[in-house]
Amino acid sequence: MSPAAKRMRKQKETVMITNKELYKTAKNAASNAYAPYSGFKVGAALLTKEGNVFTGVNIENSSYPAGICAERSAFAAAISAGYREFKAIAVCSGSGSAWPCGVCRQFMFEFGENLRVISGEDEDHLEEYRICELLPKGFRL
Ligand code: THU
Repeated sequence: MSPAAKRMRKQKETVMITNKELYKTAKNAASNAYAPYSGFKVGAALLTKEGNVFTGVNIENSSYPAGICAERSAFAAAISAGYREFKAIAVCSGSGSAWPCGVCRQFMFEFGENLRVISGEDEDHLEEYRICELLPKGFRL
């Protein structure tokens, strides 16, 4: 089979998910956030290369630095399930957009500089950036 035909077949096999759908999944997940200290609930939806979607939420702690952001929580779920390659992540808070913090940017950069990061005020006003745009010259060993 020619490379072009292979690509076509792969595209057909993979269920396409839009940015809007991914963002809505993040929004639904946000309701499960544990954020009693900040009251700022965040949800993330992470799309693997294979087409699976893993969600994550922020999980705060009375010892504040022990808390985890929604983005890293979604990555932890996906990586624990054996996934290593990712296409996109959508992030949503109660107030709409939630662009990843610096720690999450570096954390996500580890798994590929081309990850698409999606957020916005609502599902009709989404913006998208590559992680390498949000974290120029990210650290690598
Ligand atoms: N937070 C996230 O989960 N993701 C972001 O993109 C920004 C911030 C969380 C961390 C903390 O639980 C709360 O939002 C307030 O900072």
